[in-house]
Amino acid sequence: MKTDIKTLLAQMSLTEKIGQITQVYPGSVNEGIESNLTGPAGYGDEGDIELAGLVGSVLGMSGAKEVRELQDYCMKKNRLGIPLLFMNDVIHGYRTIFPSVLGLGCTWDTELAKKCAEVAAKESAVSGNHVTFSPMVDLARDARWGRIIESPGEDPLLNSLFAGAFIEGYQGDDPLDKYRLACCVKHFAAYGAAEGGRDYNTTEISEYSLLENYLPPYRAAVEAGCRLVMTAFNCLNGVPATGSTWLNREVLRDDWGFDGVLISDCTAVSELINHGYAEDGADAACFAMHAGVDIEMVSACYREHIPALLEEGRLDIGLVDEAVLRVLELKEALGLFENPYKDASEEEESDLHLCKEHRELARKAAADSLVLLKNDGILPLQKSEITVAVIGPHANTRMHLDIWSGCGKEDECTSLADAMADRVKVVTSHGCGITDGEDEQIDEALNTASQADIVVLAVGEHPSMSGEAGSRAFLGLPGRQQELADRMYKLGKPVISVVFSGRPLTLVDLEASSNAVIEAWLPGTEGGAAIAEVLFGIRQPKGRLSVSFPYTVGQLPVYYNSLPTGRPIPDESDTERYRSRYCDSPVDPLHPFGYGLTYTSFTYGQPRLSKDMMDKDVTGDDIEIKLSIKNTGGRDGTEIAQLYIRDMGGSFSRPVRELKGFEAVCLSPGESRDVSFTITEEMLRYHTRSGYMSEPGTFMACIAPDAASGHWMSFTLLQD
Ligand code: BGC
Repeated sequence: MKTDIKTLLAQMSLTEKIGQITQVYPGSVNEGIESNLTGPAGYGDEGDIELAGLVGSVLGMSGAKEVRELQDYCMKKNRLGIPLLFMNDVIHGYRTIFPSVLGLGCTWDTELAKKCAEVAAKESAVSGNHVTFSPMVDLARDARWGRIIESPGEDPLLNSLFAGAFIEGYQGDDPLDKYRLACCVKHFAAYGAAEGGRDYNTTEISEYSLLENYLPPYRAAVEAGCRLVMTAFNCLNGVPATGSTWLNREVLRDDWGFDGVLISDCTAVSELINHGYAEDGADAACFAMHAGVDIEMVSACYREHIPALLEEGRLDIGLVDEAVLRVLELKEALGLFENPYKDASEEEESDLHLCKEHRELARKAAADSLVLLKNDGILPLQKSEITVAVIGPHANTRMHLDIWSGCGKEDECTSLADAMADRVKVVTSHGCGITDGEDEQIDEALNTASQADIVVLAVGEHPSMSGEAGSRAFLGLPGRQQELADRMYKLGKPVISVVFSGRPLTLVDLEASSNAVIEAWLPGTEGGAAIAEVLFGIRQPKGRLSVSFPYTVGQLPVYYNSLPTGRPIPDESDTERYRSRYCDSPVDPLHPFGYGLTYTSFTYGQPRLSKDMMDKDVTGDDIEIKLSIKNTGGRDGTEIAQLYIRDMGGSFSRPVRELKGFEAVCLSPGESRDVSFTITEEMLRYHTRSGYMSEPGTFMACIAPDAASGHWMSFTLLQD
């Protein structure tokens, strides 16, 4: 039976209404529950009995038993029996942890991401969650920003496709269904463009770039039916996102038609004061309410100031009611009035968490997220009779989970050394720590390595060095790890480096002292085993970069779809001074977007266009671009063929290339296959001075293995 939300609203006191639009940590409503704080503590952190019957939702609570108990406790105290919503950061797995989202982005496999989200929803739904604060689709172009690990990458199309896939995986047809969650896209908007890569910092983005690059992934999430949106911490072009009426009402609700719940990020409402936007808590509550923020997360401006704002006439009760209704509608949509526990079940927790099927998916996802950056032929390892020295701060540790890893546990991961030891004789030594190390430790590691035939060097960052508040100003390997790598290489044995990191690092030196390099990201529960399988060629490396790898930190932000300059560099041999270049570094990144090696090689044939003109006004007057790809190496492999288009002139300057499509092609040695894409007029549209449309003129298209190559073909878009 459906609950009559409007009748319920009519029975609610103002305090009860404000309660529904307030979200707290579980420790706030019942002392003794530990809260995982990601910022300043909020209202009533000492456990406020009064609050228990009043708040509408809690964040970060887990466990079927705990959730059921808290739901019972709070519902008994709530005069109208309104259930709590339990929201959580289920980002890339709940108990079985998949690779971090950036790693999933590098699979270019949205079906796989959907399956991972489905499993994450299932595992967390049985632990009592109703809503996940995912997908995070902030476009990220600056590897200094620690939260780049949470984003699929730097491309608007790829991020949009992943947004849709995650949402389908979490919500299915209806979040009411068993094992489904409602999901919350974040952080609206443009949080990924924090100046200098410093977390929470301000962002300045032109309207053109916002519309073209930053907003499309959130919009894709709204179009995919995402039930909630979370505001961002950052100030955007002078107005903090959480207080922005333009973003949250005009763009999100009026233009895009979003009718779900808008929640602030954690304490972002009270942070309007720190932004120098609101003078006090009352202002902050007033601005956020007017901007359409339905739920205030953790800070207490709504709670403390809405009554006075109403009395003073600064706020209309209609705005409060609108927010409360949306929260109640979400509870109704999740069926919580009928069954406040939804899928919470201790029995199913033990059946489903970390079950074989979920771990298998995690292993596949981890393997597919690895990006082979360099290989002089040493990989895959051929013989099992060899001795492998697994050296480095990531050799024997299990730091494979980023800081948003739900209830995943490091001791449920397998270290790389242990995973390798299942297949081959292993000797091991850590050599140095992530950020420190003694001479004697390095010497000992060299000694250990000298007993082996091959060195696998497991290096990188500590998981705490990325993620929220994990910005870095230097992007080389931390501590003495590069020195360890250099000295290992001098031993004269083949060195295979495996990099565990939450971001692209500057790997020029490491690549110079390694025969092969694999970027492993933070690969999740099955990461160790997946890496070993790829090293031994049991699985093929398939990943392609969804972010550019900088040559040096001074290039940042660096991304493939940049606007051209008036003084481009014509070719590598050019030495002319007055060009857009650095005196001391290449302009191009070390590895471009889309790049990744396999254990085989592919050649691309000459591209063909079905015609070289397309009429803008004739629907379906599409052009086909086609070429043949051949596996010219000795092993099976998967190539990701990427369609790029360049608009040679427009009412705005147009990017040097934009990804418009891609296809994974699996080929056996010697096999070749035609790959074709349909170029539609729709693909040529952008936010012109006269609206979202295509502009007639010359375009170029290519099918390429990455964003730094391709044979361009030109065509014309005609208008009668
Ligand atoms: C983060 C969000 C997260 C929220 C709730 C904030 O600090 O920015 O991404 O969803 O905390 O845990």
